[in-house]
Amino acid sequence: MGTTIGNIGELVTNDPAPGRDGGKLGIIRDAAVLIEDGRVAWVGRAAELPDRAAESSVSSAQVVDAGGLAVIPGFVDSHAHLVFGGDRAVEFEARMAGRRYEAGGIRSTVAATRAATDDELRMRLAGFLDEMRAQGTTTVEIKSGYGLSVADEERAVRLAREVTGEVTFLGAHVVPAEYADDRGAYVDLVVGDMLTACAPHSRWIDVFCETGAFTIAESRRVLEAGIAAGLLPRVHASQLGEGDGVKLAVELGAASVDHCTYLTDGDIAALAESGAAGSGTVATLLPGVEFSTRQPYPDARRLLDAGVTVALASDCNPGSSFTSSLPFCIAVAVRDMGMTPGEALWAATAGGAAALRRDDVGVLRPGARADLVQLSAPSHVHLAYRPGVPQIAAVWKDGVLAR
Ligand code: NIG
Ligand code: FE
Repeated sequence: MGTTIGNIGELVTNDPAPGRDGGKLGIIRDAAVLIEDGRVAWVGRAAELPDRAAESSVSSAQVVDAGGLAVIPGFVDSHAHLVFGGDRAVEFEARMAGRRYEAGGIRSTVAATRAATDDELRMRLAGFLDEMRAQGTTTVEIKSGYGLSVADEERAVRLAREVTGEVTFLGAHVVPAEYADDRGAYVDLVVGDMLTACAPHSRWIDVFCETGAFTIAESRRVLEAGIAAGLLPRVHASQLGEGDGVKLAVELGAASVDHCTYLTDGDIAALAESGAAGSGTVATLLPGVEFSTRQPYPDARRLLDAGVTVALASDCNPGSSFTSSLPFCIAVAVRDMGMTPGEALWAATAGGAAALRRDDVGVLRPGARADLVQLSAPSHVHLAYRPGVPQIAAVWKDGVLAR
C-alpha cells in the first residue's frame, strides 16, 4: 500500500534536472509524488501521473490532494542538544539586559541534567521531538554534553539513540566543575572510559573548540580518539571569536563545522578547498544562537560566494538557542545572514543531510526516504516571508502521515 500526493502547486525536490526550476531546489510545478514502502517511488508532473500510477501497486492506495500548495523535503536538523534537565530562562533574561553569553553557563545545565531521572529526560526529549515534527523536522541529530561523567554521558547517548540514529558524543562540551583544577585529567577521561562507554551508542564525535571550552590541542586529541574508536568527526568552532577550530575540522575531514560566526579568509578558503576536493566539510550556521545571544550573525553570503556548502540547524539547547524551529532559522538567515529563501531552504534540508553525510534524506527522488512536508502556502518563499506564522500543514515521515 502506498500513497499518492497529487495537486502539488510547487514541489521542491532538491534534485535539479532538466525542465525543473529553482536551480539546486529542482522545483516541479503542478507535481505529484508516489510513495511506496516508506520511500519515494516517483516524482514528476501530475499530468504524467496516471500512467505511472497504473504501473504501480500505488494505484489502489491512499490519494492526498495537496490543494495546489507547496511540498518540500522534511527539514534535516543536523545540530541539537536535546538531552538535558531544567532551563536557563534567568540567564536569557540577564543577557537581554546586557550580560554576555559565556560557555560556562553550560555547567548549570549539567547539574540539572545529572539530577533528572531517565524517564524525566525521555519525556523532555519526546516533547522536543514533537515540537520539531510540528515544525517540519523529520531527521534530527542529538548530542550529549550535559552529563560530563561516564555514567551521565553514557545515559545521554543511550537515550538519544532510542529516538535517532544520528547520535553525537560531546563529552568535550566544557570541563565540569569537579575537574576545574585538572583539565588534563578530564580530557583523559573523555578519550578513555567515557569514549569507551559512549561509542557503542554514537555515530559522531564532537568537541566545543572555543575559548572557555577546549583548546586546539585538546580538541585534536578528542577528535582523533573518537575517530580511532570508529566515530566520525564534527566540530563546534568559531562561535565566540576567531580560532583554529575550522582548520582543524577540515584537516580531520569533519563532516561539518558548526557556528562559524567569526571566520578568517583562511577558514573560508580551507572550507572551499575541502568541498572542491570531494567530501567537503559543511559550514553549519545556527541563527538561533546569534538571535539569543545578541552576537553578530554569521555571513552566509561570504561562504556561499566562496562555494562552501552551508547548512542551517537549530542548535536547540537551553543556553545559547532554545528554539527547535527550522522555519524560524530560515526566516532569520534570509533576513539577517544574506541568504535567499531558496538557499536557506536548501541549507535546512539538503545542507543538513550533507552535514550528516546522508543522501537518503533532504531530497525527494526515487529511493529517498519519504520524508515530506506540505506547507499551507503556495511557495517555499513564504517560510521566510511570513516569519512566526505556522505554515506546516502536514508531515510524512518514512511515508507515514506524522502530523
Ligand atoms: O552549541 N557552543 C556550545 N554548546 C552549545 C551551547 C550550550 C549551552 O550554552 O548550554 C551551542 O551553542
Ligand atoms: Fe551546539
